[in-house]
Amino acid sequence: MLKFKTKHKILVTSALPYANGPIHLGHLVEYIQTDIFVRFLRLIGEDVIYACADDSHGAPIEIKATELGIKPEELIEKFYNEHVQDFKDFLISFDNYYTTDSPENKHYSDLIFNKLKEKNLIYTKDIEVTYCNFCKRTLPDRYVKGKCPKCNAPDQYGDVCENCNAAYKTIDLIEPYCVICKNKPVRKSSTHYFFRLSKFSGKLEKWLNKNKNLQPEIRHFVLNWIKNGLDDWNISRDGPYFGFKIPGEEDKYYYVWLDAPIGYIASTDNYCKKHGLKTEDYWNSKNSRIYHFIGKDITYFHFLFWPAMLMGADFELPYDIVVHGFLTVNGEKMSKSRGTFFTAREFLQSHNGEYLRFYYASMLSKTMSDIDLSFEDLNKKTNNELAANIGNFCYRVLNFLNKNFEGQIIDIDNNKELINEVSQKIKNIEKDYYALNFNEAVKDILHISSLGNKYFQENEPWKLINENREKTHRILGLCANIVKNLSVLISPILPDFSLRLQNQLNLKNLKWNGIDFGLRDHKTGKEEILIKKTEGKQEQKNVFPLNLKVAKILSVKEHPNADKLYVLDIDIGNEKRQLVAGIRGHYSIDELKNKKIIVIANLKYAKLRGIESQGMLLAGDDGEHIGLLTAAESNPGDKVYFDGYENSTAQVTYDEFAKLKIEVKNSRVYFEGKELKTGKEIVKVEKAKDGAGVR
Ligand code: MSP
Ligand code: ZN
Repeated sequence: MLKFKTKHKILVTSALPYANGPIHLGHLVEYIQTDIFVRFLRLIGEDVIYACADDSHGAPIEIKATELGIKPEELIEKFYNEHVQDFKDFLISFDNYYTTDSPENKHYSDLIFNKLKEKNLIYTKDIEVTYCNFCKRTLPDRYVKGKCPKCNAPDQYGDVCENCNAAYKTIDLIEPYCVICKNKPVRKSSTHYFFRLSKFSGKLEKWLNKNKNLQPEIRHFVLNWIKNGLDDWNISRDGPYFGFKIPGEEDKYYYVWLDAPIGYIASTDNYCKKHGLKTEDYWNSKNSRIYHFIGKDITYFHFLFWPAMLMGADFELPYDIVVHGFLTVNGEKMSKSRGTFFTAREFLQSHNGEYLRFYYASMLSKTMSDIDLSFEDLNKKTNNELAANIGNFCYRVLNFLNKNFEGQIIDIDNNKELINEVSQKIKNIEKDYYALNFNEAVKDILHISSLGNKYFQENEPWKLINENREKTHRILGLCANIVKNLSVLISPILPDFSLRLQNQLNLKNLKWNGIDFGLRDHKTGKEEILIKKTEGKQEQKNVFPLNLKVAKILSVKEHPNADKLYVLDIDIGNEKRQLVAGIRGHYSIDELKNKKIIVIANLKYAKLRGIESQGMLLAGDDGEHIGLLTAAESNPGDKVYFDGYENSTAQVTYDEFAKLKIEVKNSRVYFEGKELKTGKEIVKVEKAKDGAGVR
């Protein structure tokens, strides 16, 4: 019987991933970190559940679904299924994976909202919002674009300028437009619900100082936020919105960040109902321990809003909130244009998910430092540490035992020094897992297998067996005990490896208390190489320097100062732009209107005879005819690409473009033998003959 270590009921959560995109390698830092911790707690006999969910509400989900012409429910279901499969393939062992769009979440959101309202912690106030009369919706910051009020850079979002970093309000933008329909939005007054966060300064400060588990660096800067004064928090949004309606309202919803963390409670509740447990034992009991794992970007929500809501509604506060840093790839932010953005699924096409777990574990500790992934290091680590050290030791021991002793373990060599050293390391590893210092745990695990390898090597059993068979047998017995211990020590990190290794040992489901040197009179099963060295596999995608997109021509004017040029207004999906193009004489204005053409969206803007061209259209030119590249079946903004290439979004100059050899053949376009296309069709070229260049 397993004896429970503590009397606490432990609940562990990871942040709820948004249901509008795939799981990527950055997300996995968190889910792997949390999963290792939870698996360790289970192994050592703690009473723990691991609950999570998709974060299924919010404006982006509603807008994306509308764009795709489906219901938000269909969109979130698709991502839910994808997420569940991704997590499964990375061996993330949730006890419950739910959605925030659930009856339980509605129940707890209303319960908490009503309680806060009763206590006068929620009030209403009129505020100004940005509204699109054409789309008939209030626009969140990210759905309004325009020129930066400070530096005049075009196409900046409604909250910050990516060019000069200025922060402002959507109303301050010059020539603002709605990202969805390109029309000019208006300002409008609307009544909203506010949570009195400002009232909680003192209580939050006290909690932050009292809770000794929190990372000091985080405590420090959250206390600073409090010192600078907390603003009350707008917790409502106007419809259309995908979320829960506010009680008593017709077209107002809870802001997604209100019901998202409540999703932690809802997922717990959903699990408890299925397993005869009580949700209150986790969320309303002094004996529970709630651990949240989050990334540093959502600190404000988890250290201020969330505990204040819990305090206000009389729920238990988190015992710890573990904050990790961000994933970088090759030392930089993951980037689609550099080919370093990988979804979980893409990674699995060329790599084993367990090796990523090991890689992350070897870098993770309880700090906010960022974690860097380089595929070169990943391969090195897999080969040198997993394959050459642990894998090799386990294999050679079992192989020798099977070959020479029919897999029988009789007794062990009583090598006190080695046993003590290994035992000492095991104690450290236990502490390190509890303290979330997985990097240290990995070091010590590797140290144990190195000690094992060294002991095996120095005793030269392949020679010794001819002189002293009994002693050799005992040496292998001790080695096999170390292998067994390794199989348990590493199982939070490499659960599948551990399972297969224990299978070879003819053991099953060993727990932490199965770590000892007591394995005797036992016959092992057949050995097998568990970790194969990886060769240098494809690490980065091919990057094509142009960001090509489908554009729809909205209107055409003659250039006032040049008789070969037109000025076009175009729609490229999420923005409107103006182009200057030298196709007058080849196309009439009427021929051009509403045509779907291909443009370079990342070309440096240039003034042509006094008018700015924000990009360039592509046309085939055979010296006689100029013919546009077209994609009639596609939508504005659709990606246009050559097979096997990922378009870069980094800015390019005209000279860089001019160097690319893009050619026309059979009215199609080729680069390095690959055909140009959109997700829906192959791009066609009008008029231009074979061999025409594209410019
Ligand atoms: N839906 C919110 C969380 C609500 S919790 C009540 C959210 N979702 S997210 O999908 O953007 O991120 C989920 C978690 O993954 C967050 O903790 C976030 O910090 C983490 N990460 C997302 N990208 C990351 C990296 N590139 N690197 C490391 N962690 C990152 O935020
Ligand atoms: Zn609009």
